[in-house]
Amino acid sequence: MIDCIPFFTNTLPNFMSILIRNGRVITASENAIADIFIEGETITAIGTRLEQTADYVIDASGKYIFPGGIDPHVHLDMPFMGTSSSDNYETGTRAALYGGTTMVIDFILQTQGKSLRHALEAWQGRSNGNAVGDYSFHMAVTDFNDQTKEEIRELIEQEGITSFKTFMAYKGALMIDDRQMIGLMQEVKKYGGLVTVHATNGDMIDYLIAKHRSEGKMAPLYHYLSQPEVTEAEASGRFAALAGYTEVNGYIVHMTCEGALNAIRDAAKRNHNVKAETCIQYLMLDASLYEQNFEGAKWVMSPPLREKKDQAALWGGINQGAIQVVATDHCPFKWEQKLMGKDDFSKIPNGHPAIEHRMELLFSEGVAKGKINLSKFVEVNSTNAAKIFGMYPQKGTIGIGSDADLVIFDPSEKHTISAQTHHMNVDYSAYEGVEVTGKVKTVLLRGKVVIDNNQCLAEKGNGKYIKRKTTAM
Ligand code: URP
Ligand code: ZN
Ligand code: ZN
Repeated sequence: MIDCIPFFTNTLPNFMSILIRNGRVITASENAIADIFIEGETITAIGTRLEQTADYVIDASGKYIFPGGIDPHVHLDMPFMGTSSSDNYETGTRAALYGGTTMVIDFILQTQGKSLRHALEAWQGRSNGNAVGDYSFHMAVTDFNDQTKEEIRELIEQEGITSFKTFMAYKGALMIDDRQMIGLMQEVKKYGGLVTVHATNGDMIDYLIAKHRSEGKMAPLYHYLSQPEVTEAEASGRFAALAGYTEVNGYIVHMTCEGALNAIRDAAKRNHNVKAETCIQYLMLDASLYEQNFEGAKWVMSPPLREKKDQAALWGGINQGAIQVVATDHCPFKWEQKLMGKDDFSKIPNGHPAIEHRMELLFSEGVAKGKINLSKFVEVNSTNAAKIFGMYPQKGTIGIGSDADLVIFDPSEKHTISAQTHHMNVDYSAYEGVEVTGKVKTVLLRGKVVIDNNQCLAEKGNGKYIKRKTTAM
């Protein structure tokens, strides 16, 4: 038995069995002090005073043990707005592990006029052999036609890509119209898949961007003013209506505001099955950040940050179960890339970095400040994403037979977020100077210690592509 990891190693120790003793094991439904025994990649026993002998023992007294975090909304190495997001599969999934996120789901973007398979191969080329943490893909359908339609079944049944992303915005680039939307929904419905959406009214936003530019209003503030709440509320309601009509499972990504939340509450009254995700930034940050000069470009993302009243509504939506997931929409750009829009807000690459800090921020802002309880935290951080995206109970929980993806967490350690210490490939932090309560101490991915004492012990190639089943929620 080895009771500590040799300090000189920077590679992955390959223990056949691990025993984690005396941690407070917290899932979406359980909360108790227990031992966890892991053999290979899998949890094989949970109980008090387990008697199994193990190659390696971790004492987790005084710590929480959570299922590994799942961030189902990230953009790694993604060509977008004339540049590419600055974290690749290696840097992005490694940063995620530092923050307790053991699995991410990235978005493949179809090129209009080309096949879905063509896009899949491009994403495989960038991801294969490079990820440090586990990952999967959504397929963003930007051109639904008779050829694309033929590819849906194969992606679901052979590639384990069971969720299809649509954009109701980014007119002229990624946006599809309602005719394509309904065609896609009917096809995905046949095979039990899920249609997800960036729900904002693309025509209205296009009009407002053109109007502001023609008036010479070029600062980042006008990015925000070009996407008022109504653009999101309207599109969310429309999407829910189409999903209800076609009876497809629907999911709205990065919901930001009260109006959109009310639109899906209305749909739920008609028994339409539309799930929703918000992101950590919409719970913590607000639109006052756009009132500074170009500095506001750090938070230029779509949809934009909203008002304090929207934050309160989103926390309420989480507690009521109307919002099931907290993701990041991690889409980082270095400052030099943001400067592409120095003289014109519409050219600022949209997106911000957060993959590393979602879990600690959510714990600090949500649990430590009393807005959500521990079981809700686990649900929105991990379990619901695993269920919605067809990975449960392999991922998203701590149970016998589940992958040993575990986070050993100190609930009281405080630390401060900074670009000086983060691991994302971006030269600023959107949360610079924010003090958080709660710290990821040790992370296991499929039974291997990948993070310990602020050190990553895994290398690129360690991450595995996870084929997903259809939704279980
Ligand atoms: O600003 C954002 N959200 N960038 C990434 C692309 C998207 O819309 O999710
Ligand atoms: Zn989006
Ligand atoms: Zn996104």
